[in-house]
Amino acid sequence: MSTELPESPPAPPEVSQDASSSAPSRRTFIATTAVGGAVVAGGLIAGPSVFGAEPAEAVDAPPSSRVSLTVNGERRTVTVDNRTSLLDLVREHLGLTGSKKGCNAGACGACTVLVDGRRVNSCLTLAVRLEGAEVITIEGLSKGERLHPLQQAFIDQDAFQCGYCTSGQIMSGVGCIDEGHTGSPEEIREFMSGNICRCGAYVKIVRAVEQAAHGN
Ligand code: FES
Ligand code: FES
Repeated sequence: MSTELPESPPAPPEVSQDASSSAPSRRTFIATTAVGGAVVAGGLIAGPSVFGAEPAEAVDAPPSSRVSLTVNGERRTVTVDNRTSLLDLVREHLGLTGSKKGCNAGACGACTVLVDGRRVNSCLTLAVRLEGAEVITIEGLSKGERLHPLQQAFIDQDAFQCGYCTSGQIMSGVGCIDEGHTGSPEEIREFMSGNICRCGAYVKIVRAVEQAAHGN
């Protein structure tokens, strides 16, 4: 078998030496760099970006949105960073610090609030998605001086020690009662299982939910 070789290597592409060409020649490129380097550098620093990038200030500003929602019966409109959780909205923007930040990851239930009647982990709920929503936090549960029956039951049953989990337990308990999951202590335990109590007050918490649900 024979291998044919080309008679001669392909000719290199022609390089135009025409000064009017858009491509700079090696000589003009070196001259421009040597003489105008500072100007070029200055342009990159002070002038508009040649790459179309936004000014640093605009790039750093996080996107934000206005959201209007009802919190404990009061209409509130706030502008928040789009990443803001409902928990940070109520605690940091509205000063409602009864809802607690435990894990900030959906694992402990300390941040539980009601949104449109359903219990949610507010640390996992984006505030900007709640336009027009009705939110109830622990601060909105009592009617003036009159405690919600479950708040009173927690006191009657002594269902807390340090109290850090208590607001979340009560809000979750309100949801549990509204959902009708209070048929037995076992059912209450199951439907309250998303709320962790590091002090281990579970027996009394279940009794408090039973008391509020059934008056016993
Ligand atoms: S702080 Fe939200 S679930 Fe723990
Ligand atoms: S009372 Fe302390 S964590 Fe529940």
